[in-house]
Amino acid sequence: MSDDHTRVQEFFTARAADWDRKFPDDGPAHAAAVAELGLRPGDRVLDAGCGTGRALTPLRAAVGASGVVLGADLTPAMLQEAVRAGRERDGWLLLADVAALPLRTGSLDAVFAAGLIAHLPDPAGNLRELARVVRPGGSLALFHPLGRAALAARQGRRITPDDLRAEPNLRPLLAGSGWRLTSYVDEDARFLALAVRED
Ligand SMILES: C[S@@+](CC[C@H](N)C(=O)[O-])C[C@H]1O[C@@H](n2cnc3c(N)ncnc32)[C@H](O)[C@@H]1O
Repeated sequence: MSDDHTRVQEFFTARAADWDRKFPDDGPAHAAAVAELGLRPGDRVLDAGCGTGRALTPLRAAVGASGVVLGADLTPAMLQEAVRAGRERDGWLLLADVAALPLRTGSLDAVFAAGLIAHLPDPAGNLRELARVVRPGGSLALFHPLGRAALAARQGRRITPDDLRAEPNLRPLLAGSGWRLTSYVDEDARFLALAVRED
């Protein structure tokens, strides 16, 4: 386990028990973002960095009983909260690092990732691994229930030009990792970047 992973686990282990209580109003925003992934009944989708599994229910609703929903997270305490909330009924939970997913190449139709990308020590390599497990033409949603400026304000910092979620940085980052950015929204009430897996 790298120092980066230990830091992530410590950070989210300390917050796991209160995570859903702290952000009680995010449900509709997660559901609206899931809707933009364009999932169809029977699709196979991964929630990367699923945390307490808040997106698993809308993902299951989108792919139906014949679909496959997976939630992967590095922090056991977050997954335990997902189980406590009964969300393993909506998807399979995997204790896994998005840097090395235990999934076959091209086995998924889509990846949803809420609040994940800022925590990745190797964004390009990790986005490439997400591209590996998605079929060509499949989709990716990078989502946060707050836009970049609103999140920075909540965290008492300013956004800087090197922020990797800024469109001029994110577009080439995705392009170099097997994705083509197709839509970008950064407003106070949400951040949502959609991308398609290149052939
Ligand atoms: C800000 S939380 C978001 C959780 C959830 N997606 C949500 O919207 O409520 C980020 C999550 O990503 C997980 N995470 C961070 N780095 C990861 C990695 N390399 N692989 C898998 N999960 C990771 C953390 O453990 C944490 O649960």
